[in-house]
Amino acid sequence: MGSEARHAVCGIISIGDMGMGIARLLIANNFGVVSNVSDRSSATQRRARDNNIGEVPCDIDLCNKSDYILSIVPPRDAAATAQRIIKASSSLNFQPRSNPLVFIDLNAISPKTARSIAALFENSSIRFIDGGIIGGPPSRKEDGTWSRPSIPVSGPYNINSAEPSGSKIAEVLNMQHVNDTIGSATGLKMCFASLAKGFTALAIQSFTTAHNLGVLPELKAHMEEFNPAGLKTAERSLPGMCPKAYRWVHEMREIAETFEADGGFAEDGSESPFRAIAQIYDLVANGTELGKEVVGARKRGKTAEDVAVLVSEGTERRKVKME
Ligand SMILES: *[C@@H]1O[C@H](CO)[C@@H](O)[C@H](O)[C@H]1NC(C)=O
Ligand SMILES: *[C@@H]1O[C@H](CO)[C@@H](O)[C@H](O)[C@H]1NC(C)=O
Ligand SMILES: *[C@@H]1O[C@H](CO)[C@@H](O)[C@H](O)[C@H]1NC(C)=O
Ligand SMILES: *[C@@H]1O[C@H](CO)[C@@H](O)[C@H](O)[C@H]1NC(C)=O
Ligand SMILES: *[C@@H]1O[C@H](CO)[C@@H](O)[C@H](O)[C@H]1NC(C)=O
Repeated sequence: MGSEARHAVCGIISIGDMGMGIARLLIANNFGVVSNVSDRSSATQRRARDNNIGEVPCDIDLCNKSDYILSIVPPRDAAATAQRIIKASSSLNFQPRSNPLVFIDLNAISPKTARSIAALFENSSIRFIDGGIIGGPPSRKEDGTWSRPSIPVSGPYNINSAEPSGSKIAEVLNMQHVNDTIGSATGLKMCFASLAKGFTALAIQSFTTAHNLGVLPELKAHMEEFNPAGLKTAERSLPGMCPKAYRWVHEMREIAETFEADGGFAEDGSESPFRAIAQIYDLVANGTELGKEVVGARKRGKTAEDVAVLVSEGTERRKVKME
């Protein structure tokens, strides 16, 4: 810690790649960060210590020590995480405080889910902020500056007027208050994510099918000539998708729900390609070698062709099983 007084303390749930990047960025800007890493791997615990993240043993302590809680978890755990904090803060051991605890939900969830999570806070003293993360984890560049994702936030409670140091958090984390309505920020994130992750799913199907037909080199040659931007995106996004496919399954359903509940598309799913796209990522995660865990890390296809080959083997195995 520097000699300057800390701006505020942020509790981060949980310390994955994104949580760790955000923790480092906050600590580099003189914020305190605490996290409950008691049941995480020893590698995560060591990383937390090496990065000056304060360890807390339980949720009550996390609430006691934090001015802000940042929820960064797999989308399916978003509501349960909010519930845990509400429960901890309603416990008698929750320290009385001068400023209300602020809970910032940064998960890849639909506006509808965000509204239902916000409603859980109805009778609590905690302030709820809706948010989404667009871009990869913060990282320090060679020249010492940071590349940062964009974090739109929304809701009646504006981060810029939160105490302590709300406007400083907004500045450091590249947060923009986009609307006073809960759901605007997560909705923006969903609309953005749908284009990239939707395209990647189409590329999985297109490249796999072209491979089966023996025309993958020709497909690439034609893209090179007539759609070079598409080729570049596919070649980058297919290998990059593999370790994340299992997480995207639920996120794709949240995107479908966004389009249905807030876009006006049919609620019965008949206008929801993202329900099928969720199945494609489930296939990659569960039905191919690409989703297999390899000593703690997920196997990465080396190239777009490798991905096509391994998905094709997966669909072939499934066909054999069903015959
Ligand atoms: C937080 O701490 C409690 C108590 O040790 C533990 O049971 C719980 O699973 C922890 N939660 C997380 C997310 O680490
Ligand atoms: C939270 O703070 C209160 C008041 O200071 C204290 O009594 C309680 O033990 C703290 N809880 C934990 C889990 O540290
Ligand atoms: C808040 O309190 C009211 C009145 O007791 C109750 O009807 C409502 O269900 C509570 N909401 C939550 C989210 O617990
Ligand atoms: C906020 O979002 C609502 C729709 O939910 C829209 O009608 C309104 O114009 C937005 N406000 C601002 C300031 O953009
Ligand atoms: C894929 O694996 C996950 C985790 O093991 C499981 O929850 C899910 O139901 C599986 N999906 C299918 C289609 O088997």
